Amino acid sequence: MSGFGISRTVLRKSCQTACLYTQTARCAASAAAVEKEQPRLKTFSVYRWNPEEKGSQPYMKKYKVDLNDCGPMVLDALIKIKNEQDPTLTFRRSCREGICGSCAMNIKGTNTLACLSRIDTNLSKPTKIYPLPHMYVVKDLVPDMANFYAQYRSIEPFLKQKDVSKAGVENHQSVEDRQKLDGLYECILCACCSTSCPSYWWNPTKYLGPAVLMQAYRWIIDSRDEYTAERLDRLNDPFSLYRCHTIMNCTKTCPKGLNPGLAIAELKKMLATHNSSAVAISQK
Ligand code: SF4
Ligand code: SF4
Ligand code: FES
Repeated sequence: MSGFGISRTVLRKSCQTACLYTQTARCAASAAAVEKEQPRLKTFSVYRWNPEEKGSQPYMKKYKVDLNDCGPMVLDALIKIKNEQDPTLTFRRSCREGICGSCAMNIKGTNTLACLSRIDTNLSKPTKIYPLPHMYVVKDLVPDMANFYAQYRSIEPFLKQKDVSKAGVENHQSVEDRQKLDGLYECILCACCSTSCPSYWWNPTKYLGPAVLMQAYRWIIDSRDEYTAERLDRLNDPFSLYRCHTIMNCTKTCPKGLNPGLAIAELKKMLATHNSSAVAISQK
């Protein structure tokens, strides 16, 4: 008998039981740890090409990334690949939260932003990543945006006023007029829409494309701008605006949920009215 009235045999038995519980708990914990450590290897097949390398041809390169040790977005995987496997892999990114528009690329057949695109966790299927389609390639996933920016510059994306006395004075706008710009000003100029548009693929220098046209519309309907007629005249040719055939790929792909197809339709209506009133004036 021990001092507390429990026999040695009973004490030994209860110790054995406690040990058994601890062992079982330890086994369960280590099994869970082993399970957790099982790598979840996802394959990314990425377009590679350096046009500056003489004689080089584009090819797809496969990288395996352990999803247990990677953020949830495709951009996280690309950054991990670049940091840990292949520093030569080239792509643009900055904000990693869908604001700068620089990580636009074609992921699983869709133009989108890599930082807003979740990694497909189906490990049996590789995720294919290409640069934005129908653009010249600077390197790997980096497209040449020079033509796109030149077109954007051509629509003069800034407030223009004829009345010089307004220079340097605050430009007031009613709440209703300001609301007309909703769904337009949020565009981040990522070019996902323009590069998904078949009309833009075939006429990239003459047709302005959905992104630039939506911004043209944004300034045309801005109540403070005084160059509406001139801005509409700028679009009045067979190519700048009228190459849009309302296929709507642009609206479908926009990663910001905007509707450039609708803006283009509104522009067409405005231009038709503008042209018919111009004809009426000339016939007077
Ligand atoms: S709606 Fe117009 S701009 Fe948009 S994808 Fe179709 S053709 Fe291109
Ligand atoms: S409309 Fe959408 S897809 Fe097109 S440039 Fe703007 S944010 Fe990108
Ligand atoms: S990194 Fe800025 S939009 Fe993706």
